[in-house]
Amino acid sequence: MPVLERSRIPLVALEDMNAVHYEEVDLINQIDALLTRIESGAAEADELDALLNALQDHMIEHFRSEEARMEASGFPPYPIHKGEHDRVLLELGGLIDRWKRERDTAPVSRYIRETFPIWFEQHLGTMDAVTADFLARTGA
Ligand SMILES: [Fe+2]
Ligand SMILES: [Fe+2]
Repeated sequence: MPVLERSRIPLVALEDMNAVHYEEVDLINQIDALLTRIESGAAEADELDALLNALQDHMIEHFRSEEARMEASGFPPYPIHKGEHDRVLLELGGLIDRWKRERDTAPVSRYIRETFPIWFEQHLGTMDAVTADFLARTGA
């Protein structure tokens, strides 16, 4: 069972936002699969570095593009939505630093398999959904 499924995440009103969310689902599932292989000794821990960096890069770009559109359209709750993006990027940065220091898969596993999926579904269903509705209505 993948951690997240494309067919089960909350959809928003803009297809290009959904497409970015699908890419993030795929990355999370790739990391989950690699964690399973590392835990069973079938892969080296070092292989996780590149995928965690790819997730971080993807999230930075994902958030930056939503923020640019919110700013351009004058979306009033922009600071709240951006604040949530900033919080999650800090959290992920802390996790990656810890991984590089300790090489312990347990915190990464908890984050990728529990913390992130819960946050992701909740964020898509609330802040992203409201934002996409506003952008779709205002034609931004
Ligand atoms: Fe999003
Ligand atoms: Fe967002």
